[in-house]
Amino acid sequence: MNATRFDQLIDRRATSSEKWEKYADSEILPMWVADTDFMAPQPVIDALHQRIDHGVFGYTCTPPELNRLVIERMQALYDWHIEANDLVWLPGLVCGLNLACRTVGESGSAVITPAPVYPPFMSAPRLSDRSLIKVPLKRGEDRRTLIDLDALEAAITPEAKLLLFCNPHNPGGTLYRREELQALAEIIIRHDLIICSDEIHCDLILEPGLTHTPIASLGDAIAARTITLMAPSKTYNIAGLGCSFAVIQNPELRQRFQRVRKGIVPDVNLLGYTAALAAYRDGDEWNRAQLNYLRTNRDYLVEAINAIPGLKLDPIEATYLAWIDVSAACLDNPPHFFEQAGVGLSPGRDFSDDRFMRLNFGCPRARLEQAVDRIRRALLNELPA
Ligand SMILES: Cc1ncc(COP(=O)(O)O)c(C=O)c1O
Repeated sequence: MNATRFDQLIDRRATSSEKWEKYADSEILPMWVADTDFMAPQPVIDALHQRIDHGVFGYTCTPPELNRLVIERMQALYDWHIEANDLVWLPGLVCGLNLACRTVGESGSAVITPAPVYPPFMSAPRLSDRSLIKVPLKRGEDRRTLIDLDALEAAITPEAKLLLFCNPHNPGGTLYRREELQALAEIIIRHDLIICSDEIHCDLILEPGLTHTPIASLGDAIAARTITLMAPSKTYNIAGLGCSFAVIQNPELRQRFQRVRKGIVPDVNLLGYTAALAAYRDGDEWNRAQLNYLRTNRDYLVEAINAIPGLKLDPIEATYLAWIDVSAACLDNPPHFFEQAGVGLSPGRDFSDDRFMRLNFGCPRARLEQAVDRIRRALLNELPA
């Protein structure tokens, strides 16, 4: 295979990278925090250079072209009509999850989330003085991580006002289908809930033939009950620039969200806007190439991991995250074991399932192969002679 821009091994040490700093003093390969080790698209880098060269970095406001690009994007990709007023720009998606918890219900009300899930889904309710109702996800026959709709409906109490939902799912990699979303939307409407749908990975669909569906695009009734969160950050590897957005089509819900945010959550910074605009305007071709690269990484990883005794990895439809079942390896302390093996993974217990570890495969193939090799050797050494 010809080397591509994604094969480049870029040294991220001493660049204040959260992912790389954790293991700065060791040879452990960091495969935890969900950013990639790829350079951002050239048009994004060029736009940032141009903006920096201007030299004046005063207070900023949302570029109207960025609003227009997002509106056109939602229409073109999802046949979803939104307006500029529906958009609330945010410096991060986690802050959007926390704002959603404080916007809906009151102190002491409950927030539901299917789990395992990205940890802030479970910390945001607590930080917002809400109680948390976790509903276990289930494995479908096709080994996809699915919402157990019956369990979800049974778990809804009178205090429950908000559902936090992750689609595509982190850590499971499932992309929810239109009919699955339809069934979820019916429950939301029937029980008078609001849904906050984190769709940060919507541009990272690896499985050919599948397309993302924003739950709010299904119809007016669910749109009126939805806070959708999206961002260019994961797709174009610009998370450090902090630029995300919420789509809230219900004006009353949006006003409440804005009021909670006011004076506390800062505006997006101008480099974040600059990068987001360039990414959405000129980054599609780059992302197509990235998806091809990630797909081959995924295919390699699924095969390689499933060939290692004690490990199991189900199909990954979206994201660059692999949710590996390590339970059959019977390890005392999986995070420590893998670090000792030279690979830094995210502990499953942080996502509410300690039978798993999460591996980030958004990296050059050579690094991924090195990580798999270390994991394989360590586990083969563990086997009884
Ligand atoms: C599902 C999900 N939501 C939100 C985030 C983080 O968003 P932000 O960095 O914009 O706060 C992540 C990052 O891993 C994520 O996986």
